[in-house]
Amino acid sequence: MAANYTEVFRDPTAVEKYAERTYAPGTFSSIVSSRQTGWLRGFVPHAFGMPPVHHDFASGTGRVARMLAGLVSVSHGYDTSEAMLQKGRELGTPGHAHLVAPGLAVPEPDETRPRLVTAFRFVLNVDLHLRDQLMDFASMALPDPDSGLLLVENHGNASSLRHLRKTFGRLDAHTWFQELSHEEMAELFDRHGFELVGMQGFTMFTQGCYRRPWIWASKAADTMLCSPMSKWATDVVYIARRR
Ligand SMILES: C[S@@+](CC[C@H](N)C(=O)[O-])C[C@H]1O[C@@H](n2cnc3c(N)ncnc32)[C@H](O)[C@@H]1O
Repeated sequence: MAANYTEVFRDPTAVEKYAERTYAPGTFSSIVSSRQTGWLRGFVPHAFGMPPVHHDFASGTGRVARMLAGLVSVSHGYDTSEAMLQKGRELGTPGHAHLVAPGLAVPEPDETRPRLVTAFRFVLNVDLHLRDQLMDFASMALPDPDSGLLLVENHGNASSLRHLRKTFGRLDAHTWFQELSHEEMAELFDRHGFELVGMQGFTMFTQGCYRRPWIWASKAADTMLCSPMSKWATDVVYIARRR
């Protein structure tokens, strides 16, 4: 876990790497991201009677707002890195980008519509203190069960094939390797007054399985398995509601 997690993403070099390398077309992350887009674009109109206001915590380059374009009344992204938000503007992210100080993000008020709070690629590599910042934000946006839904991505599910890397693999000191279990996520939701109402998996396999010659087999298997076997997916989105 990076002790200076918030600082890391203020560095323009890290931002370029995230936007241009991690999410370059055809990479593992961009394949998973396009699967998430397909699912979100089916889920949101089904789950909400009217287009919700979208609040994206740790919005970064605005990946989630772009996935939801046209399906929400407006997207608000909140992030501590001006460099990430600037990259989002360059990528044509819709909605409003809010530069915030750590722990001080406050959702833009709109009492007339339901709300969708998202936090993608955030909880895994941060400490409990930052996870609590997210949940405090979500609690403000979603004060009661009828106010909307919270979607949180865990891109390192501990009960997945990815765990084998920890057991048998070589963990490079230069790359972060964290895991987060369903129990830890449930405990986080519970402590902040949220209940888990569902989970959706987006890949059973790891980045290594998406290299040649395995990529086509991994993609085909994921198309069939990652949804029915969500509990064992390496990348999971949790759906939670205020109790
Ligand atoms: C890995 S990026 C994920 C960005 C985006 N959610 C996505 O899925 O592409 C993590 C983001 O968290 C932001 N961040 C770090 N510390 C934060 C904090 N305390 N509050 C809000 N955002 C924070 C970083 O600036 C960075 O943009």
